[in-house]
Amino acid sequence: MAKAAQIKALIRSHAEGDDSRFYAIAMQVAAQAARSGHGTFAQELRDLVDKGKAQSHAASPLLPPKPVALTQPRGELSGLLSASYPKTRLGDMALGAPLREKLDRVLHEQRERERLRAHGFAPQRKLLFVGPPGTGKTMTASALAGEMGVPLFTIQLDGLISKFMGETSAKLRLVFDAIAETRGIFLFDEFDALGSQRDAGNDVGEIRRVLNSFLQFLEQDDSESLIIGATNHVALLDPALFRRFDGVFEYELPSAEIVTSVMQSRLALLDTAEMDWAQVAARAEGISHAELTRACEQAAKSALLNHETRVDTDDLISALSERFATRG
Ligand SMILES: Nc1ncnc2c1ncn2[C@@H]1O[C@H](COP(=O)(O)OP(=O)(O)OP(=O)(O)O)[C@@H](O)[C@H]1O
Ligand SMILES: [Mg+2]
Repeated sequence: MAKAAQIKALIRSHAEGDDSRFYAIAMQVAAQAARSGHGTFAQELRDLVDKGKAQSHAASPLLPPKPVALTQPRGELSGLLSASYPKTRLGDMALGAPLREKLDRVLHEQRERERLRAHGFAPQRKLLFVGPPGTGKTMTASALAGEMGVPLFTIQLDGLISKFMGETSAKLRLVFDAIAETRGIFLFDEFDALGSQRDAGNDVGEIRRVLNSFLQFLEQDDSESLIIGATNHVALLDPALFRRFDGVFEYELPSAEIVTSVMQSRLALLDTAEMDWAQVAARAEGISHAELTRACEQAAKSALLNHETRVDTDDLISALSERFATRG
């Protein structure tokens, strides 16, 4: 039978109008059904897919073209921001309950922002994501954009500072003008570039000036956009920064339960019936979501390259050991 993750993936691809993914998942369900002895069901599914594909092929010239996303930063802004239109959802992420609740609350406040504003309250908009590499900070920014249906603009702060030495504050103003003009998620990645303590010994004047203008712009900003700072090093951050954010969101290495859920969802399209998840999770302790995902991908690809769809405990443990060994 189709697994929960497959059904969810089917519905999501349908909702997004992604026909090729929809049919690919359906074919995977058919293949699994065939392997587990449900030959008739498998054949019926394949026939339905063939028929559906033929019909949508015939119908497509009549359909209006899909709208194309237009907002790409132009002119001076193009070197400062990169835009994307993520389809990621919070449901695609394995998040601990407290973090998930905080993020749901952000979305809820956004949906009800008119009502809040009408009564003199502002929705949370300035968020600081803190935590080790590979735990989902950037992915959360994408998921919030996907959930809100707005573009994600990423600003690489360390690049900005070194590229425009001496005029970073002026460039930052352009970015904040864009924040006010276009509703979106604005992610200031590598936030520690700015956040290093203002009075730290290695502080050059430029960083201090940039930090001061950032604080000022952030404080003045009263736009409809979400502004997110993401950093690995909370200890480096200036206390003055914390005060300007509406909320600090802490990311952690995954618990055993989350480890299992990340792996199960990444391997949802393969046969893991014989996997000893508890044993694998015990071996994965201390590894990030990103590395877990990579280990699963590696084990899955090795299986597929061997013309198999089964991934078992040993395969996954050996992929995990490789991640541990190559970790920087
Ligand atoms: N909570 C999560 N649930 C599911 N997958 C995750 C999660 N966190 C990370 N991943 C996987 O790891 C990849 C990298 O994560 P991401 O870039 O969001 O990490 P990050 O916290 O921004 O790391 P860095 O601090 O290095 O920028 C994601 O694209 C996704 O495949
Ligand atoms: Mg990141």
